Amino acid sequence: MTQVIFTIFGASGDLAKRKLYPSLFRLYKSGVLSEHFAVIGTARRPWTKAYFEGVVLDAISDLTTSKTEAEKFASHFYYQSHDVEDADHYVTLKNLQDELCEKYQTSHNKVFFLAMAPEFFGTIASHLKSENIVDGLGFERLIIEKPFGTSLETAEALNQALSETFNENQIFRIDHYLGKEMIQNIFAVRFANVLFEHVWNREFIDNIQITFAESIGVEDRGGYYDKSGALKDMVQNHILQVLSILAMDKPASFSSADVLPEKIKVLESLCIPDEATIAKNFIRGQYQAGRINQQDFPSYVDEPSVDPASKTETFASGVFFIETDRFKDVPFFFRTGKRLTEKGTRINILFKNDQNIFNQDIQQNILTIYIQPTEGFSLQVNGKEVGKNFAVEPVKLDFRHDAEALGNSPEAYEKLMYDVLNGDATNFSHWQEVKASWTLIDQIVSTWQADKSPLYPYQSGSMGPDESFDLLEQYDTSWVWQPDHWY
Ligand code: BG6
Repeated sequence: MTQVIFTIFGASGDLAKRKLYPSLFRLYKSGVLSEHFAVIGTARRPWTKAYFEGVVLDAISDLTTSKTEAEKFASHFYYQSHDVEDADHYVTLKNLQDELCEKYQTSHNKVFFLAMAPEFFGTIASHLKSENIVDGLGFERLIIEKPFGTSLETAEALNQALSETFNENQIFRIDHYLGKEMIQNIFAVRFANVLFEHVWNREFIDNIQITFAESIGVEDRGGYYDKSGALKDMVQNHILQVLSILAMDKPASFSSADVLPEKIKVLESLCIPDEATIAKNFIRGQYQAGRINQQDFPSYVDEPSVDPASKTETFASGVFFIETDRFKDVPFFFRTGKRLTEKGTRINILFKNDQNIFNQDIQQNILTIYIQPTEGFSLQVNGKEVGKNFAVEPVKLDFRHDAEALGNSPEAYEKLMYDVLNGDATNFSHWQEVKASWTLIDQIVSTWQADKSPLYPYQSGSMGPDESFDLLEQYDTSWVWQPDHWY
């Protein structure tokens, strides 16, 4: 049972309502949070405690049938209307924090969650220090959400501002993909199976394919997305994080002290491509009108809050190489985009074909890790086709379940909040990872911005521009996963 006060900046926002309150409630139900916790919500709106409790009750309404349980949980929530630039407001916040610390006996432990626009992170952090809200008593942890900057330069400025108040061990940068069950499961697949552990290297692996496909468009986030694009929105963070787990060397133990340095090593070993290589190896696309599941969708440039002349990419694909002994020269292909055929996050690991004694072509072994919406693995192996002649055919060993239907996968945020309470940084992005990934992404962005490579249109409902398929052909391979209902 943890003693703690959470202070959430941005308590009236979407993230707080959709993810944070339900996750805190799940932690409450499982006993991680019990009597000794309180939540201070702050935002500009002039809400009362009673109104805030109502918002929290609404956010958790699907998670319990017990009104008493829900109300008891919501009674731990307090609200303070807050202007992040106004020093006086931090004095009120400090008083409320002290009062609740006493009331709930929280041992001065504090978690600050900045669920709002990153331009305010620096201001908030500096006030937390100057008004003595961060006072060195108990544990003090800061949780922030991406984007961690929009380039290396802005990321460095942000980090500098935060580090005036918090040291690296106290900063938990959320990448919600690291909280997903099957991303964490990559560790188990790699390091708990002798079958894979010894072939997880350039000698046996031919290439790795990472697909993060989404069928949704930019929804109501056009304003943000149009300034970001797929590369910064998905690749700089989620895809490179997953790549680092796939490519890291075996850590001495499964602790953040051992895991993080191995992941950092991978990201710092990424080959930084020059302009000509970027033009050849990185593809950007933008969705045009099309149909998905019998529904018509407009072009990206016709979406609300998007510049009609926008050149922002809604699809990015490419190939990364890593200069490590383990994976030197092994292509790591990736693709991600909006308005693709279907939602599907999966990783395919294609093994090299060994010498073949049969008088026929034999398919590669392929390990597929399904992240979402189904979770599981499959392994394509070769066996004898039934019959009097000897012929070899591929068969699939398949273990999958529908996470949502079974309801047994904890929410990513629940797991990540739990880790923060335990001070476990394994599933968070370390500053050195952020830095290394921006170094690479900046390079691609600057080539794209200089219009040195085309922006390819693709139809909504497809799996992106043809050029993304051509890219793999150049490396004598092809995307293993091609959803079959693309029309
Ligand atoms: C977010 C991106 O980080 O991840 C969104 O900003 C994207 O654009 C989302 O839709 C995808 O997350 P998930 O968990 O739905 O796969």
